[in-house]
Amino acid sequence: MTQEFKGKAFRIYDADSPNHPSRIFGGKASGIRSWDDIKYPIFLTYQKNLFGEFWIPEEIQMGKDMEEFRQKLNKNEQIVYAYNSGALDWLDSIATDIVGLLFLATSDPSLRTLWVLVAGFETMHNVSYEHITSSTLNKDEKDKAFNEVRNLPLLVKRNMFIIEKLEKMKDALVNFLITKYKTGKEEMDDETLQAVFEGLVAYQILEGLFFSGSFVYYHSLARDNKMQETNNIINMIKADENQHSEVFGTVIQILMSEFPQLNTSENLEFAMDFIREAVKLEKAWTAWLYQDIDTLSIVEYHDYVEYLANLICRNAGMTEPFPENDELKAKWIVTYGSKKNNNGGISPKADFLQGNAIDYKHEDGGNFDL
Ligand SMILES: [Fe+2]
Ligand SMILES: [Fe+2]
Repeated sequence: MTQEFKGKAFRIYDADSPNHPSRIFGGKASGIRSWDDIKYPIFLTYQKNLFGEFWIPEEIQMGKDMEEFRQKLNKNEQIVYAYNSGALDWLDSIATDIVGLLFLATSDPSLRTLWVLVAGFETMHNVSYEHITSSTLNKDEKDKAFNEVRNLPLLVKRNMFIIEKLEKMKDALVNFLITKYKTGKEEMDDETLQAVFEGLVAYQILEGLFFSGSFVYYHSLARDNKMQETNNIINMIKADENQHSEVFGTVIQILMSEFPQLNTSENLEFAMDFIREAVKLEKAWTAWLYQDIDTLSIVEYHDYVEYLANLICRNAGMTEPFPENDELKAKWIVTYGSKKNNNGGISPKADFLQGNAIDYKHEDGGNFDL
C-alpha cells in the first residue's frame, strides 16, 4: 500500500511564495536570497562579520608550544590542558550538528545562509582542537584525554544538563519536519516552539558560557608566559563564539517578537532558573578541574562565570540572573583573551564581545596552483 504525502519537509524552491521571508519558523519564502529584501538585515551584517573573521587553524604556528608543553607546564597543568581541549572539542561537535539541524527547520532563507556559515566555523574549531592537541600531546595522550572527558562525572553532569534540552529541541524539530512532510502543515505548533525556545537557551549556555569559560584557562597560561600560541588559536575561536552568541541572542529576541505566546513570565523564569543552574554546574566542575592549578583563581573564575551569564542574557534581551555582578572585574581576561592588533600588541577592548582588530592574516592563495 502506498501512502500519499501532502507536503515537503524541506523546500529548496517554493514557486508560490515571495522572496521576502514571512517568519523564522513555520513561515513562507521562495528560497531565493534577495539580500536587499530580507526580513532581518542584521543577518546580512552578521554574515559579513563572520566572513571577515575567516581563518585557518593550520596557518597558526604551534612550534614554540610544542616545546613549552613539556618544558614549562607541570603535570597538573598538562592534564587540565588536555581535558579542557577535549571538553571544548566535545561541545564544538555538538554545535556543528545543532546548527545544521536548525538550518533545516528555519523558514527564513537568509538565516539558513547565516547558519551554514556558523556551522562551517564550528567545524573549523573542531579541526583547531585537533591542531592544538596533535602539536602538544602524543596520540595516546590525546585519545586518552578526549575519551576520559566523557567519563568525568562533574563535566558529564554539566554537559548533560544542556544536551537533554538540545535533544528535546532536536526531536521536536525532526517531528515538525516529518509532520510537514506527511500533512503539508507548514506552521510550527506551540509545543515545538516551546522546545525551540528552551533548546536555544541551552545553546546560548553552550556558546556563551561553557565555551567562553573554558577559554580562560588558556588565557591564564598565557598570562604566566606559557603556551601563547595555543592562546592565540583560542582567541580566534573565542572571537567567533562571541559572534555566535550575538547571533543566537538575536534569534531568541526575534522568536519572542514573532511568537508573543512565548514571551511570558513563566518562560523568563524558566530561562533564569536554567541559567543559574548551569552556572552552578559550571562552578562545581571547574572547582574540581582547577583545584591544583596556580595560574587561575577559582574565586575569580566563578565571578567571571556569573558575568558571562549576565552577558548571554543581555544578548538575548533578558534580565540579568546575577544583577549584583554586572562588571568584569578580572580585566586580565580581556588583555589575554582578545586577538592581537596589527601592531603586534594586545588590542584594548571596551567590550570583549567586539574583537575585530587582529594580527592574523590568512594567506592569499598566491602560492597555490589553481
Ligand atoms: Fe565553535
Ligand atoms: Fe559557536
